[in-house]
Amino acid sequence: MRKLLIAGNWKMNLVLAEAKSLTGDILSQMERFGDALDFLIIPPYTLLHPLAPAVWGTKLALGAQDLHWEPSGAFTSGISTAMLKDAGCSFVLVGHSERRDHFKDTDAALAMKLRAAIANRVTPIYCIGEHLEDREAGRTEAVLTHQFNTVLKGLAADQIQNCLLAYEPVWAIGTGKTATPEMAQETQCFIRNLLVSEFGEDTAASTRILYGGSVKPENAKELMGQPDIDGALIGGASLTADSFIGIAAAANS
Ligand code: 13P
Repeated sequence: MRKLLIAGNWKMNLVLAEAKSLTGDILSQMERFGDALDFLIIPPYTLLHPLAPAVWGTKLALGAQDLHWEPSGAFTSGISTAMLKDAGCSFVLVGHSERRDHFKDTDAALAMKLRAAIANRVTPIYCIGEHLEDREAGRTEAVLTHQFNTVLKGLAADQIQNCLLAYEPVWAIGTGKTATPEMAQETQCFIRNLLVSEFGEDTAASTRILYGGSVKPENAKELMGQPDIDGALIGGASLTADSFIGIAAAANS
């Protein structure tokens, strides 16, 4: 019922020639999966418009790493949902830990970003995850509950149906340390139960929750074999077609 989504968050990497070449390689290697998996790339803003013609009409979706909640105006460096759609985006990340930690995105700002994305029909992928000190202090569930409540609580069922979640333990991002499949499953099951309590069984059952944090071809099968892991949000390993498609192949095996 929940099709796996293989999503590559390119972060602040690649220039145009590299991006075109990677996208072309992904498109040609993706064909063998038919409709079995969903695919998404999330490049930096400057690459969105030039990549859009390459992915148009294919099964490779385009997403952005952030947005501004206002539709237009004096917000230097801001990018609105209309601009994202104009550049061919159908997805946008909200609340990535690098936005929270380095750019100080607040819960209130994230709540506005998420609502702007939903209202303008760009599917948000809302990212949550604990720091190492939280996990070690036994605060994982409290942190996730806070991140869930401050941004998702109060949405209507038809709004949350247009969202995805991503669980990304901060200590596993770019560190080579992956949560064990059991640890990721236990945490994602906890997140799904938050969805059940707030939005009911049906919505919780249909909402995809991705896992992110050092996903690679070697660990993808076990991770995505877990019942509450509905895809991967991949950083480093999404920057070459071999590892990105290798993850898809492992997930689909
Ligand atoms: P890595 O796969 O490089 O750990 O990054 C994960 C991530 O932050 C994806 O959004």
